[in-house]
Amino acid sequence: MAFVRDFDDKTGSRELLYFSDTMKHFTKILLALVIFACVQAHAQKYPGLALTPPMGWNSWNKFAGNINEDLIRQTADAMATNGMRDAGYVYIVVDDCWEAKERDKLGNIVADPEKFPSGMKALGDYLHAKGFKFGIHNCAGTKTCAGFPGGRGHEFQDALTYASWGVDFLKYDWCEHGTANSQETYKTMRDGLATAGRPIVFSLCEWGDTKPWLWAKDIGHLWRTTGDIYNCFDCDYDHGTWKSWGVLKILDMQDGLRQYAGPGHWNDPDMLEVGNGMAVNEERAHFSMWCMLAAPLIAGNDMQNMSDATREILTNPEAIAVDQDTLGVQGYKYSAKDGVEIWFKPLAGGDWAMTILNRNQDAKTVSFDWKNEAVTDNLSKRDAEFSGTTYNLQNLWTKQSAGTTKDILSADIPGHDVLMLRLKK
Ligand code: GLA
Repeated sequence: MAFVRDFDDKTGSRELLYFSDTMKHFTKILLALVIFACVQAHAQKYPGLALTPPMGWNSWNKFAGNINEDLIRQTADAMATNGMRDAGYVYIVVDDCWEAKERDKLGNIVADPEKFPSGMKALGDYLHAKGFKFGIHNCAGTKTCAGFPGGRGHEFQDALTYASWGVDFLKYDWCEHGTANSQETYKTMRDGLATAGRPIVFSLCEWGDTKPWLWAKDIGHLWRTTGDIYNCFDCDYDHGTWKSWGVLKILDMQDGLRQYAGPGHWNDPDMLEVGNGMAVNEERAHFSMWCMLAAPLIAGNDMQNMSDATREILTNPEAIAVDQDTLGVQGYKYSAKDGVEIWFKPLAGGDWAMTILNRNQDAKTVSFDWKNEAVTDNLSKRDAEFSGTTYNLQNLWTKQSAGTTKDILSADIPGHDVLMLRLKK
């Protein structure tokens, strides 16, 4: 610089050095600001993921903290051969309790060396080699609900760790969050994941506390709408400071939320309890309603010990097609009377799904005269127009034809069961 050459006395050199240091410092700050601005400008949830509701398996509902790498590998082996993987259940999610009790000296999150001696990268490789995707659980608070290290303050570092392990799905819980603001906290992890750069589905598990459907569309790909599911059809369970909810209770809590869901951003009414002990009719009703809700289908039962009845429910391709329909419109309750609810879900190509849910213990006879019913969905702007259009009816559980919409539908529906139909144009 000419300016530099003009100074040759000691004082001038010192001033010059000082000036040059200041410039360097200033340049560094400027550079940092530019990088920060770029990261902010580009920080977004990974695009193009979860265009239909994610499907997979999660360890929590059945195994809670009793997990290790053998269980996860054996679960994958079972799912690769029992029809689950091929039906679409590809995300295998390791829930709470995989971590060591403490981070390492550098603050990295590490797996419990006894439960996961081969490490998480090796587990991810194993799952990928079998055609699965690798999911993991952690928490936006300082600790997970089971007391393991949470992500608070380590978001960018953990995101890099997860990416290096080949993680494809992160379920991020909400225990021990103190006074943290949910939106800002989840945004920080979203930005961490964006910086790590790997396509990772971001699953917010904030239990609906601060209405994530109002703010999470650009942050995550799915968000829990309620507290935890409980393994019963129609009950709740009081843990003292919190409650968990049976299938019907969770279903009722979905009221008013459907307009917030769509491709890439789903309401999550929690994982499935199918196969964990409910009666078969209740399992069928639970599964059907989750499909009508376009819910993520995350199985939560023991993949190595599953009855044929449970397997047939979980892998029913026609029911899954309702859930995975590319239109991505959540179904809605059309009518409710005497404990019998009729739900409709518009499907791509002009078809509809219809489910009649009998919430009662006793059977009910239902009659539905199509020509007198106005099935119009304000959200998708679709009108079934039964007066001018005849649909063929397919029973999605018996797999048989159920006539057409020209005739009055009459059906006996056992207690805690459903009639699930596809109306084909
Ligand atoms: C919360 C979540 C559950 C499960 C547990 C693990 O309760 O809602 O789905 O992940 O934490 O501790």
